[in-house]
Amino acid sequence: MLKSLVLKLIKSRGEDKMIQNKIVCGCFNVTEQDIKNAINNGPKSFEEVQATTKVGTGCGGCVVSNKELVSELLLRKKIDENQIVCGCYKVTAQDIVKAIKNGAKSFEEVQVVTKVGTGCGGCVEGNKALVSLLLRE
Ligand code: FES
Ligand code: FES
Repeated sequence: MLKSLVLKLIKSRGEDKMIQNKIVCGCFNVTEQDIKNAINNGPKSFEEVQATTKVGTGCGGCVVSNKELVSELLLRKKIDENQIVCGCYKVTAQDIVKAIKNGAKSFEEVQVVTKVGTGCGGCVEGNKALVSLLLRE
């Protein structure tokens, strides 16, 4: 029993490593881990990630998929670091997570609970993406 759990863990770690080492831009041999490392060093947009990794600056064929990857990783960073995602009401990423755990099923339902995006409106698009990511999980 314990042996099978340990084997499962080793296998899943191996798979994680394979995913992280997956090349996401063939022109410059950029891996998913390179993108993660770049994001951990501060970039807040795809263009800033491009500046440090060169991802998508060759043939351009990987731009769409890597834009999606970067935006998902940026959202996950907001959750992991519990960043403030709505300055008007000081709503944090974990407030959004909590609202969804407590049953909110749409951005509008999250708004009712947290007030996110009901001030200046400048955070609405980013938080719609965050809510949609969390609802998919
Ligand atoms: S595969 Fe990424 S720029 Fe060509
Ligand atoms: S920053 Fe969220 S409504 Fe203004």
